[in-house]
Amino acid sequence: MCSAMAVREILHYPDPRLRRVAAPVTDFGPAFQALVEDLAETMYAAPGVGLAAPQVGVSLRVFVVDVAASDDSPSDLRVFANPRIVETRGTQTWEEGCLSFPGIHEEIERAEIVRVQALDRHGVPFELEAGGLLAVAIQHENDHLDGRLMIDHLGMLRRRFVHRQMLKRAAAAARGEDRTQADPGQ
Ligand code: NI
Repeated sequence: MCSAMAVREILHYPDPRLRRVAAPVTDFGPAFQALVEDLAETMYAAPGVGLAAPQVGVSLRVFVVDVAASDDSPSDLRVFANPRIVETRGTQTWEEGCLSFPGIHEEIERAEIVRVQALDRHGVPFELEAGGLLAVAIQHENDHLDGRLMIDHLGMLRRRFVHRQMLKRAAAAARGEDRTQADPGQ
């Protein structure tokens, strides 16, 4: 089957679709395969190190991650469908971005190590223990599946600041000003 990959539009905060709790993937057929291809292409085009289906307006529990995408290492695309974080250990803090929050970078504390169970793009179960940036990306993307966003991890003052920045950005976009900034996000 020939299916052309496509870069899909990424929703920006405060789009309400980012707040929906996504439904489990039950059909791993051609439409799902096309979605996975599009998520990867959209993530690489952005560029970002992770992208979840709700960020392109598809309310399904699937995300892609490639933490090698931000440097010159070979690509390391990972697909997580219906993921479940079954264990967390330790804490770490990274300055995170999000493709749904262009231009925003905030320090967020998360688990240092996560063990995750998920299905691959063909519906085959796997388990993975991850640390470092991969663990951060998995937790960040997994949040998207439950409508949880990076802003929810901030203290009240930073949350208000980011909220206002994003409203300003949305207003500027509505006026037709392009304030897109190229920076890796998730
Ligand atoms: Ni994100």
